[in-house]
Amino acid sequence: MNTLDCINERMSVRSFTNENVEDEKLRILASAALQAPTAMNSRDMMITIVRGDRLEKINKAMEEAIPENMRGNFVDSNGKFDFYRGGNALIVVSFGPRSVLPEQNTGCAMENMYLAATELGLGACWINQFYSFRSDKIDKLLELDDGYRPYAALSVGHIDKKPTRKEKDGKIVFLK
Ligand SMILES: Cc1cc2nc3c(=O)[nH]c(=O)nc-3n(C[C@H](O)[C@H](O)[C@H](O)COP(=O)(O)O)c2cc1C
Repeated sequence: MNTLDCINERMSVRSFTNENVEDEKLRILASAALQAPTAMNSRDMMITIVRGDRLEKINKAMEEAIPENMRGNFVDSNGKFDFYRGGNALIVVSFGPRSVLPEQNTGCAMENMYLAATELGLGACWINQFYSFRSDKIDKLLELDDGYRPYAALSVGHIDKKPTRKEKDGKIVFLK
């Protein structure tokens, strides 16, 4: 798929099969994040791939970290708390103390991974809760290096149901 097709095809998928995503594909996505531009080439990015029991432990810790009156927003069709939208793996993007403009860098890393997932035929969805609802317990479960904090994660899996395409309009202005 060429880059422009990939950009136009990409969408957030929140319906996944139970099939595991191969390590090699997860590595490709993580490498795509590391190739993203960063302010002043400051990088200092740490990518953590979370699956299996650790994912369930983090899900539990996130349930505790999210205020009770907001937890309902993260419940799946079976009534289970699931902030990561049922993906098979979470790829967490963290930045360290030397990072310049880490929020913006996160956007670049995340879009790179979204596009790489599209190219590989995988489903993916941005998961923001590591940024909005932090806790020491979650940071410990992520085994981050000292001084690093999580900014976002991509939930990844094999696609069960493709969402319908959203119309993306917006203003484009040419000036002379
Ligand atoms: C900064 C940011 C945060 C987001 N956080 C979440 C999230 O926590 N959970 C979720 O399901 N989707 C999240 N999304 C996905 C958006 O809902 C999605 O990109 C948007 O609805 C447009 O749909 P599309 O990605 O299919 O084009 C986030 C997207 C961005 C860019």
